[in-house]
Amino acid sequence: MTQDELKTLVGQAALRYVAPGEIVGVGTGSTVNKFIDALAGMKDQIKGAVSSSVASTERLRAIGITVYDSNDVQELSVYIDGADEIDAKGCMIKGGGAALTREKIVAAQSRRFVCIADESKLVDVLGAFALPVEVIPMATQRITRQFAALGGQATVRLKDGKPLVTDNGQHILDVTGLRIADALAFESDVNQWPGVVTVGVFAHQKAAVCLLGTATGVRTLTF
Ligand code: 5RP
Repeated sequence: MTQDELKTLVGQAALRYVAPGEIVGVGTGSTVNKFIDALAGMKDQIKGAVSSSVASTERLRAIGITVYDSNDVQELSVYIDGADEIDAKGCMIKGGGAALTREKIVAAQSRRFVCIADESKLVDVLGAFALPVEVIPMATQRITRQFAALGGQATVRLKDGKPLVTDNGQHILDVTGLRIADALAFESDVNQWPGVVTVGVFAHQKAAVCLLGTATGVRTLTF
């Protein structure tokens, strides 16, 4: 199976976590796009969605799903999203699609994070994927130096030759050279650096379940 087919498989498998009559939390990315495509088939059975990005909101609305502001909804029973890396404890690196801040907000508002990913995303230790960090632009150089002190090399993510601007009007640093053995401690530490909006380690908002697309079908990991 191709990676695209594996994404379709887990996108469809995630439907069984969506309860009829409820509002579902929806992440961002190519795997989530497969989930949204599958959700079209049960759009009349759900109340709507809370979305983690402008891109997902547009895709949800295009198929007729009502998108609620997260402030207008209290707790969500489930949040479905992809990951760039996931470890054996359900801790993840996210933000490859630059939506990490809103993803963490919707994840925090949800009782259960269901991660959908192809098997290439399962790792022993987080850090091979460049860690996305959303930052306030005036703090970029100092945060870059702080990562250098940890052995990381941070670069500003570009789009069309200019710094990419997130849905929140900020920039993204992608940090290579890190080995994140203690994800909880790392997330807590970096999150309190002045100018960091969100670090793309999801350990406090880790996955409860991961639907992993493999050559032999969907493997369900629970944490
Ligand atoms: C977006 C994300 C995505 O969930 C992550 O990048 C995985 O994306 P894809 O499903 O396209 O591989 O965190 O900010």
